[in-house]
Amino acid sequence: MSKENLNLTLKVWRQKGKKDKGGFETYKLKGVSTHASFLEMMDILNEELITTGKDPVAFDHDCREGICGMCSLYINGEAHGPDRGVTTCQLHMRMFKDGDTIFIEPFRAKAFPVIKDLVVDRSSFDRIQHAGGFISVNTSGNTIDANTIPINKKNADDAFDAATCIGCGACVASCKNASAMLFVAAKVSQFALLPQGRVEATERVLNMVNQMDHEGFGNCTNTGACEVECPKGISLENIARMNREYLAASLKG
Ligand code: SF4
Ligand code: FES
Repeated sequence: MSKENLNLTLKVWRQKGKKDKGGFETYKLKGVSTHASFLEMMDILNEELITTGKDPVAFDHDCREGICGMCSLYINGEAHGPDRGVTTCQLHMRMFKDGDTIFIEPFRAKAFPVIKDLVVDRSSFDRIQHAGGFISVNTSGNTIDANTIPINKKNADDAFDAATCIGCGACVASCKNASAMLFVAAKVSQFALLPQGRVEATERVLNMVNQMDHEGFGNCTNTGACEVECPKGISLENIARMNREYLAASLKG
């Protein structure tokens, strides 16, 4: 066996549904190319399971290029696995060694219930977005070009960085309290830093934080694990900004 092909032992979390207790199943996979992506390795496993008449492993994916945030896997105890700044779909098998045992689990949080195997329900994130992650503008007729409003370069850059959050949920999965603060802070910040977002800033931060609490996410205790595991490098500075926004909004009320 060349070094470019790996023999692996996979310990994969299998769970029939929300109410099932679930547990790890062990699978042996031979000759996996180091050039394969992690999800391609999962495809190979599923082809073998289907060929032998077994139920394939359910896992989420869509774009497979780090954009959609669907590929929420917890690999060897890390959200999106051992590489940094990448999603699971961008993780390559060259990060593993021949003979490795790889534990593959769903993102675990009370607010992310397991649907099946490695697929979790992250609609709680959608409901937080619906609570305020938007600006209200009339887009019919002659809309004003956004570029006509002068914006401080640092604010524009910081807003852009915050807007790169893909809603994957790795911040929640990597937090010992299952806090969603980094996600919500990114969504609040991308608007708070721009003049277009200031109009509804007060209601936005109050409504989004209230919805976050309502969904059952835990509190932030500033361990910084979310920032380390975030594939888009969303900074903890956003949490500090959201806390300032929340305090100012609460005082207004
Ligand atoms: S803040 Fe980072 S880890 Fe959290 S949802 Fe956004 S991209 Fe994913
Ligand atoms: S499948 Fe879209 S980010 Fe991984």
